[in-house]
Amino acid sequence: MSRGGADRPAAPATLDDTLAWAFALVARGVADRRHPFHTPALATIGLDGAPQSRTVVLRGLDPAARRLRLHTDARAGKVAELAAEPRAALLFYDAGAQLQLRLSGRATLHRDDAVAGEAWATSRDFSRMCYAIQPAPGQPVPAPPAAPLDSAAGRPHFCVVILHLDRLESLHLAASGHRRARFDWDAAGTLAATWLVP
Ligand SMILES: Cc1cc2nc3c(=O)[nH]c(=O)nc-3n(C[C@H](O)[C@H](O)[C@H](O)COP(=O)(O)O)c2cc1C
Repeated sequence: MSRGGADRPAAPATLDDTLAWAFALVARGVADRRHPFHTPALATIGLDGAPQSRTVVLRGLDPAARRLRLHTDARAGKVAELAAEPRAALLFYDAGAQLQLRLSGRATLHRDDAVAGEAWATSRDFSRMCYAIQPAPGQPVPAPPAAPLDSAAGRPHFCVVILHLDRLESLHLAASGHRRARFDWDAAGTLAATWLVP
């Protein structure tokens, strides 16, 4: 897709269509490993209160429930951060669509439940292997550790992060005028949507 050519999709004209477009592109990010939305940045609040961000793979989306699924190592810094402060944000940018999405909500952590079991069962062996690394991620070591060989050893460290969305903000860049919109869901799931000045 070109960055500004005639083949670029027109900006959605309504808030409803903007939200539907945003979720459709996030769904593509789950399904298509080459799509820019496949690897958003996850932002958390560090244990010292400072912001932290890192690239993650987007593994799942349930648009009706407004839930996104990520996989990580239970020993990683982000897990301790989310356990202490579940508020988190995901940042996406698709240069082809000229669309930025800022998603935020609260994270729940899943290690020993059905959510984790199903995600592990459907993970590829190559992905499972990541969680078998020793020692724990983020530890200082004198030299890079050897790649793990036994993927089953990763299961005790496997952790699913579910982000329960309560806000989605979109910014679509266009020569005809940038469009920024915000969508907020309250605790009952009622949506409030508004355009914002870009
Ligand atoms: C392309 C890419 C994809 C990544 N995907 C994940 C992922 O899905 N889950 C994850 O925990 N870390 C992933 N990482 C590694 C993180 O960016 C980060 O380095 C690591 O998780 C440690 O972060 P933390 O110490 O803040 O927990 C990925 C890194 C890159 C470059």
